Amino acid sequence: DCPVNYVKIGPGIICVFWTYLIDRFFKELSATEYFSEGKKLIDEALQRFLPDEQSYPENIHKSMLYSVFAGGKRLRPILVFAAVEAVGGDRHSVLPFAVAAELVHTYTLIHDDLPALDNDDLRRGKPTNHKVFGEAIAILAGDALLTQAFILMTNANLMESIPEKNILAAAQDMTLALGTKGMIGGQVVDIESEGKPVDAETLEYIHIYKTGHLIRACVRAGAILSGTGKADFQALSTYGAHIGLAFQIVDDILDIMADEGQLGKDVGSDINKEKATYPALYGLEESKRKAESLIEDGIACLESFDERADPLRFIARFFVQRTF
Ligand code: IPE
Ligand code: IPE
Ligand code: MG
Ligand code: MG
Ligand code: MG
Repeated sequence: DCPVNYVKIGPGIICVFWTYLIDRFFKELSATEYFSEGKKLIDEALQRFLPDEQSYPENIHKSMLYSVFAGGKRLRPILVFAAVEAVGGDRHSVLPFAVAAELVHTYTLIHDDLPALDNDDLRRGKPTNHKVFGEAIAILAGDALLTQAFILMTNANLMESIPEKNILAAAQDMTLALGTKGMIGGQVVDIESEGKPVDAETLEYIHIYKTGHLIRACVRAGAILSGTGKADFQALSTYGAHIGLAFQIVDDILDIMADEGQLGKDVGSDINKEKATYPALYGLEESKRKAESLIEDGIACLESFDERADPLRFIARFFVQRTF
């Protein structure tokens, strides 16, 4: 005799299975919506917070707007929103800060592509800034976007809903993430390591510093601006560190594997320049495994958070599943 009556429990199993599929479908839908709503809000705000093309001197503003509106996933400002919301805050209250995060990111991309650095021709599906505006204007456009970010991080509107001391602390944290003990440090070692064998420690330094610190700063900004307690801040910060490193590992993988049209950047750029990358040191499979494990560790940091942290969870998953 069969101990289980499948005729009786069969419909139950089917029902549970369907509920699971429907739940998955709506979760996917809400993730897609979360990304598109975040991007829409950021794109509108970018338009508002940047000088228009007609304002003098026109060429620098054209150059800034060219790179900012060339496309871009807007992941860093979306992370600021998701972190604020995870601790119960409101995205609108931190909008100028989130825009600042996208501006500094775009500055790093313009400079990263310059002939003196990675010398790339394609970015966000378009010719790189220096290819269109020349090197001098591209350098200045990067500088101007960074400067504009500071104008926004110290924007008086922010102070309507956020205590000044939190704004100061978040701006300071973002600044540290961009300096020689942050992004710049990583870029220096990245450039100096071209064509040389690098050890695991140096490679991890490059990736954490050139990319991870800005991503972590976006998550931390959400927490700092909302004035969260120490434990939540620490959890979010560690989450940010894990997903930040994973993001750059996946960037390395995509430089080999992606479809150039979809990626919007030159594929094979790292191999051509003999860059220090995860696939070069560990191979593709092991790199993928490392990125996935970092994402799992990142999500595990959010254990004590409720469903308001779900966007942080699906953003983390997107970081390894992405194809662009
Ligand atoms: C690319 O970042 C540069 C890195 C730090 C790896 P993104 O992949 O987020 O670029 P956009 O903003 O979508 O163009
Ligand atoms: C990006 O590293 C780091 C910064 C822009 C700070 P990559 O050089 O790998 O970025 P992509 O691949 O050109 O976007
Ligand atoms: Mg680079
Ligand atoms: Mg590059
Ligand atoms: Mg890359």
